[in-house]
Amino acid sequence: MLTQQLSNKSAYYLSLEEKYGAHNYHPLPVVLEKGEGVFVYDVDQKRYFDFLSGYSAVNQGHCHPKIIQSLIQQAQKLTLTSRAFYNNMLGEYEKYITEYFEYDKVLPMNTGVEGGETAIKLARRWGYVQKGIPENKAKIIFAEGNFWGRTLAAISASTDPSSYKGFGPYMPGFELVPYNNLAALEKAFQDKNVAAFMVEPIQGEAGVVVPDEGYLKGVRALCSEYNVLFIADEIQTGLARTGKMLACDHENVRPDILILGKALSGGTIPVSAVLCDDAIMLNIQPGEHGSTYGGNPLACAVAITALQVIKEEGMVENAEKMGILFRDELAKLNSPFIQTIRGKGLLNVIAIQHPNPDAAWELCLALKENGLLAKPTHGDKIRFAPPLIITASQMTEAVKIIGNTLQSFH
Ligand SMILES: Cc1ncc(COP(=O)(O)O)c(C=O)c1O
Repeated sequence: MLTQQLSNKSAYYLSLEEKYGAHNYHPLPVVLEKGEGVFVYDVDQKRYFDFLSGYSAVNQGHCHPKIIQSLIQQAQKLTLTSRAFYNNMLGEYEKYITEYFEYDKVLPMNTGVEGGETAIKLARRWGYVQKGIPENKAKIIFAEGNFWGRTLAAISASTDPSSYKGFGPYMPGFELVPYNNLAALEKAFQDKNVAAFMVEPIQGEAGVVVPDEGYLKGVRALCSEYNVLFIADEIQTGLARTGKMLACDHENVRPDILILGKALSGGTIPVSAVLCDDAIMLNIQPGEHGSTYGGNPLACAVAITALQVIKEEGMVENAEKMGILFRDELAKLNSPFIQTIRGKGLLNVIAIQHPNPDAAWELCLALKENGLLAKPTHGDKIRFAPPLIITASQMTEAVKIIGNTLQSFH
């Protein structure tokens, strides 16, 4: 067991959260106060590599100068109008993002989970209006192991008891199939009331579960064959994280509904988006869906710049290259504690093999001491997802930290 000394300052901030905050998270004991690029700094000015990137919200790096500049400029001008009025940023943003991803329309929301809710509402409505599903009979299929947030609908789709247990009753009309299993999906599609299949192209929170090659192509084909909408939840995998602009691009498939969030604002404010074509989007009429903050001018300005810098700075290519370097260097460590290394681009995970069930947590504590932050997931796994602007020399230095930490681990 590692017992680590916290500075008085850190201990103070921990105690505040302990006393005044809900206990719905279990953070590593590090208190951050500054971020710049791939680094974050704690209240004692210690520097860390950030290998979580705010669960992939900070793909562009902490406090990206151009994103922050857009944020400040827009914040000094106009931040919120509500959708009761037009504003001069929303249309520009809608044009920009729909051209960027080649969809007819976008529906702007704030958090990722709202994006998921919106996609499901769109799919249900499409099911009734376009597909002819009898009222209140629409079904949405999800994959086991999915994670798309914490609302009642999201946890109703969850197979993780820590997400759903004790919060029932649950949303009706949801069904589950095993992930990465086309036969099971086709069986579920025999039901004519299925409106959509919502799936992550790589399951992030489940532990970076990468499906077999051909799975996404198969999903696309089945959805087309059975007239079911393919909803891709790219909130974590999208925006260059996996070495392509979208993880669906790895198999050249185009979902009917695309959900984006997290890095859409480069880690500044909650911005999510649901993209689809007119045949789906225009089934929702004024007053039938929305959000006070959805499409606010500040979010629009920030999102345009967040998308711009991904292309300008070659983050797709860098994520691909640095991901290969990371997995190669990690494999070379030959650590007896690393059971598997998997991932795409800069969304990676290692599974730890160790008799201590808390080994992944202990290892993350040791990594923190050595200057690298990562978070264990599902007990034995550690996700490594640095900002996509990481350089080769930074990556080599980071892997050295991981290597040294593993070496002194027993
Ligand atoms: C794939 C996926 N979808 C949806 C969400 C929910 O996003 P948010 O936490 O912004 O509501 C997450 C969050 O981790 C996610 O990983």
